[in-house]
Amino acid sequence: MTRSATAPFPPHEARAIARAFLPAHVLGNRYDYFYTLSKLRSDPLYPGVLDALRGTSAPVLDLGCGLGLLLHALRLDGQAMPYHGVDIDADKIRRGTRIAAQCGFEDDARFAVVDLADGWPPHAGSVAILDVLQYLDAEAQRALLADAIAMLTPGAKLVIRSGLGDDSRRGRTTRITDRLAHLFGWMQEVPKCYPTREGLQSQLAAAGLHVDFRPLYGNTPFNNWLIVAG
Ligand SMILES: C[S@@+](CC[C@H](N)C(=O)[O-])C[C@H]1O[C@@H](n2cnc3c(N)ncnc32)[C@H](O)[C@@H]1O
Repeated sequence: MTRSATAPFPPHEARAIARAFLPAHVLGNRYDYFYTLSKLRSDPLYPGVLDALRGTSAPVLDLGCGLGLLLHALRLDGQAMPYHGVDIDADKIRRGTRIAAQCGFEDDARFAVVDLADGWPPHAGSVAILDVLQYLDAEAQRALLADAIAMLTPGAKLVIRSGLGDDSRRGRTTRITDRLAHLFGWMQEVPKCYPTREGLQSQLAAAGLHVDFRPLYGNTPFNNWLIVAG
């Protein structure tokens, strides 16, 4: 696999994934298609996550999965591990479930509506928490990470992407954009707390995990980092 882990998908791969999100009818709503296409073409998130998960076949729990784009990226990459995506947004879960079934992924993929402020399903394997931590308060973040660490099986990975709480220009842009996304209705939830590098590092290292931090913002103006622990 020669794809870069720090650049967005090349156009033909972005189109191959986004095509699944086209409406069944030619006059149907194309919002999900254009949203996924532009995200996949501009954001290096998924190539970075695929690189982190490659080499383990442990089931993946995707916390705050949205439409389940990670599932589609995994399958494009030839990663066939079982996938469980959960999100608070029932409409995204409904659309994500339908699209995964249309792609023939239903045997090894399932989705459920879950509010991470209240809890999360039991799991053993890898855990992905992508652009979600900021929607939980600091206490819920710590509790979620403690349980995610306990879910890891040998060889499995905890893969987090998050904006980090700091005073950089990128940090400020991330905070303002997340608030605008809520105000304009793109995101139902309000960001509550951005984790700090020090806080994540100390919790993950205290659990005996090897932790790797690297910037993963590509050409975006955001303060996004990929944190891989295992
Ligand atoms: C920026 S999107 C990221 C979606 C997906 N992880 C991705 O990277 O494409 C944030 C997601 O977190 C979900 N979310 C926010 N608060 C949540 C909560 N309390 N419980 C579960 N999901 C939540 C939102 O509904 C949204 O789908």
